[in-house]
Amino acid sequence: MATIEFLLNGTPTRCHVPPDTSILTLLRDYLGMTGTKEGCASGDCGACTVAIKSDTAPHFVSLNACITPAHQLHGQHLLTVEAWPLTKNFTRHSVPWWSAMAASAASARPAS
Ligand code: FES
Repeated sequence: MATIEFLLNGTPTRCHVPPDTSILTLLRDYLGMTGTKEGCASGDCGACTVAIKSDTAPHFVSLNACITPAHQLHGQHLLTVEAWPLTKNFTRHSVPWWSAMAASAASARPAS
């Protein structure tokens, strides 16, 4: 098991997960956050898009949660679609992909 500490939509979060756990599995199966959807599960469709940012990075960057190992979140700030109400605190420049992420999540087929 790996211990991961990160900010999840601004909230300090600590998880213990197997080393091969993806961010998508972490969110949906370990944290019960089902807003991030699974589509292709191979990094091609963008339905699982989330964003991360380190303390030193100027901007959030988007990534596919289905193919990104959860351990890469350690020490990072993760934004998911559930953070929509928080976006008024971000500038357009800091989260330029936000509309695309929200649209992908809305159009993805629901996963159970
Ligand atoms: S589910 Fe399609 S890119 Fe992740």
